[in-house]
Amino acid sequence: MNTSRDEHVKDPERTELTRSDIPRRSPSSDELVFFRTWLRAPLVTATFLPSSPNLSRALAAAIDPSIPGAVLELGPGTGAVTAALVERGIAPDRLILIELMPEFSERLRDRYPSARVITGDAFSAPSLLAELGLGPLSAVVSCLPLYGRPPSWRQSFLLDLLSLGGPGHRFVQVTNFPASPIPIDRRKIEASSSPRIWLNVFPAVVWTYRLAK
Ligand SMILES: C[S@@+](CC[C@H](N)C(=O)[O-])C[C@H]1O[C@@H](n2cnc3c(N)ncnc32)[C@H](O)[C@@H]1O
Repeated sequence: MNTSRDEHVKDPERTELTRSDIPRRSPSSDELVFFRTWLRAPLVTATFLPSSPNLSRALAAAIDPSIPGAVLELGPGTGAVTAALVERGIAPDRLILIELMPEFSERLRDRYPSARVITGDAFSAPSLLAELGLGPLSAVVSCLPLYGRPPSWRQSFLLDLLSLGGPGHRFVQVTNFPASPIPIDRRKIEASSSPRIWLNVFPAVVWTYRLAK
């Protein structure tokens, strides 16, 4: 095909590159949008760049796509982990994404028109989900910054969301610290953690929680 770009390449007289010849990333790349949002609300975003592909895939690997039901993502940001969930085999129409920052949720709506994107407070997820009247959840994946909440509150939040799942349901949480960000009452909760994932802005660990049998 004879595009104008091909013609430029074939023109031996033309040695200078024009701006349109240089591959550029969109000025509103996910990283830039994330960084700008971090400048405005650092305690909400908790980090200044989206999760790396390694961390995103480790979070997605902790869930089982064959378990039926919706997959709830809390704090999806610009969608780094969302993309890994889709890559893992979760159809976008199974996703419920709850994100506080409108600049992130608008992006997610554009990118995943069949997902249910809620601009709102993910810490109210149990009541938001009750309003939606869904069946049992398949899994919850959370990148929420939890340390602003008291430990007992975090555990109740986890138990509330685990109680909304079907058999095999898991709650997956990222943290930058080795210890579980949620206190584990072994009578009620089974927990395991991944090896430390070094390839990320801040090295991270993925914790997986289930209801104890
Ligand atoms: C550490 S970032 C992770 C973003 C994305 N999941 C990633 O891995 O790149 C935390 C995300 O949680 C969102 N967030 C923080 N508090 C929230 C809340 N109460 N409700 C919903 N989203 C929240 C932030 O806006 C941000 O997108």
